[in-house]
Amino acid sequence: MKNLKSYNIKNKKILFRADLNVPVVNGLIKDTARIKAIQSSIEILISNKNKIFLMAHFGRPKGEVLDQYSLNFILPSLKEILNLDKVYFLKNLDQDSIEKKFNEMQDGNLCLVENIRFFKEEENIDLNFAKQISSLFDVYVNDAFSASHRNHTSITGFPKFLPAVAGNHMIKEINSINSFIDNAQKPNMAIVGGSKISTKIQLLSNLIEQFNVVVIGGAMANTFLLANNYDVGNSLVEKDLIQTANNIQLKAKKLNCELILPIDVLCGKNLQDKDPVLRKIDEILPEEMILDIGDSSTKFINNKIINSKMVLWNGPVGAFEFKPYDKATNSIANIIKVNAKKLNINIIAGGGDTVSAIKNTNAEEGFSYISNAGGAFLEWLEGNESPGVKSLKENNLT
Ligand code: 3PG
Ligand code: MG
Repeated sequence: MKNLKSYNIKNKKILFRADLNVPVVNGLIKDTARIKAIQSSIEILISNKNKIFLMAHFGRPKGEVLDQYSLNFILPSLKEILNLDKVYFLKNLDQDSIEKKFNEMQDGNLCLVENIRFFKEEENIDLNFAKQISSLFDVYVNDAFSASHRNHTSITGFPKFLPAVAGNHMIKEINSINSFIDNAQKPNMAIVGGSKISTKIQLLSNLIEQFNVVVIGGAMANTFLLANNYDVGNSLVEKDLIQTANNIQLKAKKLNCELILPIDVLCGKNLQDKDPVLRKIDEILPEEMILDIGDSSTKFINNKIINSKMVLWNGPVGAFEFKPYDKATNSIANIIKVNAKKLNINIIAGGGDTVSAIKNTNAEEGFSYISNAGGAFLEWLEGNESPGVKSLKENNLT
C-alpha cells in the first residue's frame, strides 16, 4: 500500500477523500476530530505545492442536493484547523467547473468539493464518472478510514484509475487497531454496547474467541436477559434473536470466555422518564424499560477493567443520550480515565457514541487509542476487509 512517505507527490493535482461527517448539534460542530485527522496529510501535500481537491460526504442525502446537507458549513473550521487563509469551494463536479477551479488555485491551495453524496454517481459506483473525473487529476489519496467500509465511487472507484495512496490518518487507524488485535495480552476484556444484537452478531462471535471477558450492555443485553428467561417488561428486545443470544452464550461457555450480563438495571417508563428505579433483573415490572445497567453491575465491570491488561470498548452500556441513563457509561469512562495509565492497561475505543461519551467525561487521557471510525471500526474488528483499504492495497498504478 502506497503512503505519503513511500510515494512522493509534488506539484500534482490531488483528489483527496476525507471523512468530514462530523457530529453537528444545533448547527454547531460537536467534535472536530475528523477534521484534525487529515491535518498531517494535508500539511505534507500543501508544503509540496500540490493542488488538493478535498472530497467528503455529510449525512445521507442519497444523490439529492439538499441544503441541510451542504458541506459549506465546515469551511470556517477547515480553515481554522488546517491553518489556511483560504479554502476554495466547488459545487459542481464536472470537467468545466474543475478545470476553472484549478486555474483559480495556486500551488499548495485546497478546494473543498460539495457533499459527494449529492452526486448520484457516488453511491451508484459509476465507473465512467470515476474515469472521467480521474482524468483531471494525478493522484488519489484516501485518508478516510472511517468511511472506507463503504463501496462508493469516492472510496473504491477513483483508485481504479489513479495512483492511490493511503493518508497518514488512514495508516494510523489501521496500525493502531491491528496492533491492538495482534498483540493480545491476557487477561483481556471487551465491552460491547449498543441497541441491537442484529448489527453485532459477528462482532460478538469474534470477540468471544479472542477475549477472556466480554461484557454485553445496552439494549442488546435485554435480548440476552430474555433468552435467560428474565421478564424484561417493556424493554427494547429482538425476540427473533433469542436463539442467537443462546448460541453466543453457548459458544462463550465452550471457549471459556466469561460473558457478563447486567445483574441489576436502571429502569424508567420511557427514555424521558427522569425518575428511574434501580432493579435487580428479576424484579422488573411489565411497564418498565431497562435503560441503563445498575450500580452493582457497573461496579463489577469496573473491577474487571482494572484487573485487565487490555480492554476494547465499543458501544455505550445504557441509553446515554438521555440523562440520567448515561450514568454507567460515564462511570466506565471515568474508571478508565483514572486507572488506565496508572495500571498500564492498554485500552482502545471506537464508535461514534462511545467516543462522544469518552469526550463528554474528558476521559480521553485514559485511552491508548480512540478510533474516529464507527461502522468501519466494527467491520474491521469483525475481520471484514474494508473495500477502501483493499482498493489501496490492490492499486498498482504509478
Ligand atoms: C460514519 O460517520 O460512520 C462514516 O462517515 C460513514 O458514514 P455512513 O454511515 O453514512 O456511510
Ligand atoms: Mg456510520
